[in-house]
Amino acid sequence: MKPLRLILTLIPLGCGDGSSGSDGLLSDELSMPRVPTVALDSFASAEDCGVCHQAHYAEWAASAHAYAMKDPVFRAFVAIRQENYAGEQDKFCLQCHSPIGTRGGDIVAGFEFADLQPITLEGVTCESCHKAASLARPFNSGHVLDPDGPMRGTIAAPLGGSFHESQFSPLHGGSAFCAGCHDLREASGLVLERPYAEWQESPAAAVGVQCQDCHMPRYEGQAVAGGPTRTLHRHTWIGAGIPLLEGFVTKDEEAALRVEVKRLLAGAARVDIAAPAFVRAGDEVDLDITVKNNISAHNFPTGSTFNRQAWVEVVVRDGDGRVVFATGTLDARGEPRGSELLQLGSVLVDARGRRVLLPWRATEHVSNAIEPLRERVFRLRVATASAGRGPLSVEARVLFRAFSPEALRALGLDEYAARLEVHEVSRDVAGVELRPR
Ligand code: HEC
Ligand code: HEC
Ligand code: HEC
Ligand code: HEC
Ligand code: HEC
Repeated sequence: MKPLRLILTLIPLGCGDGSSGSDGLLSDELSMPRVPTVALDSFASAEDCGVCHQAHYAEWAASAHAYAMKDPVFRAFVAIRQENYAGEQDKFCLQCHSPIGTRGGDIVAGFEFADLQPITLEGVTCESCHKAASLARPFNSGHVLDPDGPMRGTIAAPLGGSFHESQFSPLHGGSAFCAGCHDLREASGLVLERPYAEWQESPAAAVGVQCQDCHMPRYEGQAVAGGPTRTLHRHTWIGAGIPLLEGFVTKDEEAALRVEVKRLLAGAARVDIAAPAFVRAGDEVDLDITVKNNISAHNFPTGSTFNRQAWVEVVVRDGDGRVVFATGTLDARGEPRGSELLQLGSVLVDARGRRVLLPWRATEHVSNAIEPLRERVFRLRVATASAGRGPLSVEARVLFRAFSPEALRALGLDEYAARLEVHEVSRDVAGVELRPR
């Protein structure tokens, strides 16, 4: 089989836009100050907000943002990093997962999750967003928190009252607001996540479509019971995964979430097979598998692509349904197999060129993700010698899974592997006639 035409993009090291090098990214006066810059007890719990903003609270409570500090995968990574650096870098991973706890001094060297204050464990809670007064940089927890300031949002003329002061904030309506946490650089400077950087060069940005337009869909409703009907924004932040921790959401909420995740992923990319009408028995057949990213705003996949799995499965069967060729089907470990797997995600590689799981061991981030609205063609040359009678049927599917079960096992999280789901993003079929020589 001919080698695949994989395009490997080396994501450039981030520098030049406000980053102060690796030392700055480890003891950062904004997000990881040596002494606390905000008082933990000056922030209110999400539950307090839920008294009036019931819908916002219920949606947030089942979202990835509420999960950010409970996530067992996050905790497992953090535990290894704590050990690797003897506590010296403990704040680094926490700055976005708990901006309040990190700035408020709750995250100290050698901290344990069990000892953290409730507000820290709320993760990306209401006030980590609504008390953000400005953005100092579009990555690594760039928000400047102002606990004594007003509640900032995008209602132009909010009702006034004794509950809290409110202020219209255009910052909250734009993609840069999300960038503060969603674009991530390792302490080494290696760029790990960059949906905002991708968005900046995207067709969506050119026409003013923001992250919120897709990830916080609008609906008509009341921000508080008895208040005026307004255009509100969903606080569900549907993404690529469901919480692996059982009991974080109810069974019903989980079922609903799985449906929403499927809906977001379905059609995020499209696969098309171009195959010749016939092949002579015993000859090789060339298949062009085209994958198009249908998302106008960022790569497919995006975000933590080094943890995600996105790949193309191609199965060719003969007229009796026997498999003649397959790539991307799951092996006994549950991993997609194939010596020339059609990968769409990314891999972290260390100085010796080996694939690594821990981002802080990586010196390179090699990505196969497809840019917004662009397509990638993979050519497969398939031998037909083993085929019985024709015609050949070709099936191609773009598949997506939030984690590799193998990676979960490596982290000691075997129990969650069964909760992972392989999603079909797109599927195409084609037939190839098998003619005698
Ligand atoms: C006692 C009731 C009450 C509580 C508690 C409350 N709010 Fe509000 N909040 C309101 C009302 C009323 C409005 C105005 C709604 C409107 O104009 O439609 C509002 C507006 C807002 C806005 C919109 C501001 C803007 O200009 O866009 C945000 C954001 C907000 N609240 C967040 C919070 C958060 C976060 C908490 C918890 C820390 C909270 N609220 C607690 C009653 C409350
Ligand atoms: C045009 C709609 C659209 C816009 C705008 C958009 N996204 Fe997405 N986003 C999607 C779709 C569809 C997916 C699911 C496919 C995927 O995971 O790549 C997704 C997935 C994601 C994920 C989950 C990725 C993963 O696999 O973990 C994150 C995080 C994300 N988007 C962040 C952002 C951010 C940040 C912005 C703004 C810079 C943004 N998105 C703008 C449509 C959009
Ligand atoms: C990850 C950041 C984030 C978190 C966490 C968050 N919000 Fe918001 N919220 C926003 C953004 C952004 C908007 C405005 C969206 C827009 O205009 O596109 C908003 C809008 C609002 C509004 C104005 C009405 C509306 O729907 O537009 C209220 C009220 C509100 N949020 C309350 C809350 C409450 C209560 C919580 C916690 C239970 C919370 N938010 C958690 C980012 C956040
Ligand atoms: C204060 C930091 C912070 C801000 C601000 C923030 N996020 Fe997030 N977001 C996170 C973290 C941390 C997670 C992952 C939590 C986890 O799973 O452990 C996350 C998860 C998500 C997910 C789920 C991804 C998945 O794969 O399931 C989506 C979607 C998302 N955020 C969208 C947004 C959008 C849109 C905005 C801007 C309106 C935003 N976020 C602002 C920190 C933030
Ligand atoms: C710049 C802010 C930021 C920092 C710093 C950060 N994260 Fe995250 N983390 C996020 C966001 C945003 C997501 C959601 C990404 C997505 O779903 O694509 C996330 C998601 C995760 C997840 C959930 C699974 C996944 O891959 O989506 C794990 C695990 C995780 N982070 C571990 C870490 C570790 C370990 C560190 C320290 C090396 C770290 N994070 C530092 C913002 C951050």
